[in-house]
Amino acid sequence: MSFILATGTSRGIGQAAKSALLERGINVIGHATRAADVDTIAADFSNPGAASLLWEEAMERSGGEITAVVNNAGLFEANRLDRSDIEWLDAWEDTLRINLTAAAQLSRFAVRHWQKQGGGGRLVHVASRAAYRGDSPAHWHYAAAKGGMVAMHKSIARAYASEGILSYAITPGFTDTSMAGDYLDSRGGAGLLADIPLGRVAQPEEIARIIAFCALDAPASMTGAVIDANGASFVR
Ligand SMILES: NC(=O)c1ccc[n+]([C@@H]2O[C@H](COP(=O)([O-])OP(=O)(O)OC[C@H]3O[C@@H](n4cnc5c(N)ncnc54)[C@H](OP(=O)(O)O)[C@@H]3O)[C@@H](O)[C@H]2O)c1
Repeated sequence: MSFILATGTSRGIGQAAKSALLERGINVIGHATRAADVDTIAADFSNPGAASLLWEEAMERSGGEITAVVNNAGLFEANRLDRSDIEWLDAWEDTLRINLTAAAQLSRFAVRHWQKQGGGGRLVHVASRAAYRGDSPAHWHYAAAKGGMVAMHKSIARAYASEGILSYAITPGFTDTSMAGDYLDSRGGAGLLADIPLGRVAQPEEIARIIAFCALDAPASMTGAVIDANGASFVR
């Protein structure tokens, strides 16, 4: 029996992705900072050891049969420049650790595991439009983490394609979760929708469909691709 490990499945995009994968008959090992059900493993990525413990627990629960990892968990917290130096640095490091370093750790564990098994496996990284477009003045760290995630993804795709280890990245624009809600409220709400030709933010289920496609269906030749989903608000 094979499993997909997906992070940040307690709500928003991750929860929708978990449902989409379950609907396809896939066994999903979920994750959140606190475990709410038996299928979810708790790991707070602000703790440097947490990703390793999550991987070990997921390996145990799956009997070593993890075929894909979805790096979805993320934090979007404002970090204003006028904070004290130490507050600003702490917030920078938290966001980088949660949004980028934990994804890198899990990707490394998975790649090494698949290599030991003789190859084959998929990574799906939920990055952001911010990787390309940048973000608000209080979100340098968020944009930097997502830009780093896209660069990491491309490195992985190029390095291990010949071993059947495939990597896909998704760069959503605003998506209708609590994360986007906080941002839209803080930046003037509906006015921001004027920037989105589609006239609305994405639904978590739309991003979940792309995650399931990448984890299960995307052709191998698409490895290294970055898939935008932003209502044409940022066309590149
Ligand atoms: N919503 C958007 O507009 C948008 C746009 C572009 C990209 N994205 C990206 O899409 C992904 C999912 O976003 P979302 O909107 O679904 O967010 P969300 O509703 O805020 O959910 C965030 C998820 O990440 C987990 N998480 C937060 N802090 C964590 C920590 N310290 N350690 C471990 N897990 C943690 C949360 O777990 P708990 O429930 O336990 O806190 C939750 O499952 C993120 O990577 C985000 O950057 C979102």
